[in-house]
Amino acid sequence: MKITFYGQNSLLIEVEDKAILIDPFISGNPLSKDHIDIASLPADYILLTHAHLDHVLDAEEIAKRTGATIVSNYEIAMHYQAKGCTVHPMNHGGSWQFSFGKVKYVNAVHTSTFDDGSDGGFPGGFVIEGGGKSIYIAGDTALTMDMKLIPLWTQLDIAILPIGDNFTMGIDDAILASDFVDCKKVLGVHYDTFGYIKINQDEAKKSFSDAGKDLTLLEIGTSLEI
Ligand code: NI
Ligand code: MN
Repeated sequence: MKITFYGQNSLLIEVEDKAILIDPFISGNPLSKDHIDIASLPADYILLTHAHLDHVLDAEEIAKRTGATIVSNYEIAMHYQAKGCTVHPMNHGGSWQFSFGKVKYVNAVHTSTFDDGSDGGFPGGFVIEGGGKSIYIAGDTALTMDMKLIPLWTQLDIAILPIGDNFTMGIDDAILASDFVDCKKVLGVHYDTFGYIKINQDEAKKSFSDAGKDLTLLEIGTSLEI
């Protein structure tokens, strides 16, 4: 499984010859818009954690170009179906076996209204099992006790957690989340994009290593293989 970071919570997961794009927010991201070209991004599926603009901005354009299936909660799926996109609606606690692996839509504590004020349902995260690997994409969330359920379902290879604070967990709570989901390997996301979520990357990595954990922060456009 190959994971590429495009800034904020935008990720490309490549597994079983499928391209799964997560939360595409690139054309409006000052850190990625000049060197990531959304017109060339592959997508067989687009998974959306919640309806906030810094997670869905480029979803419609990429879905219409690629024919990718948008996977999200029911309200978000219906929003994109009405725009003519192919969708797969889910809701919290449900799993579905896709061609690339199993996806479970899990709880997040956050909000999820579209930029125009329309209803984006409740926010979530995803647990994806494919290609012999298991990953958790928390999405925007507080630290939540529900994270303790995840190790009852799967042994994670990596947890992709927000670390930017203010709108989501910060570094200290992400370290606790790593305990809750029983996974020492963390990919940090949702930091540095704008002023409220600027972090000191060296201090973040040191905090994780002092807690016996491994925090990876990818340069935008770079990948890791798990
Ligand atoms: Ni959000
Ligand atoms: Mn966000």
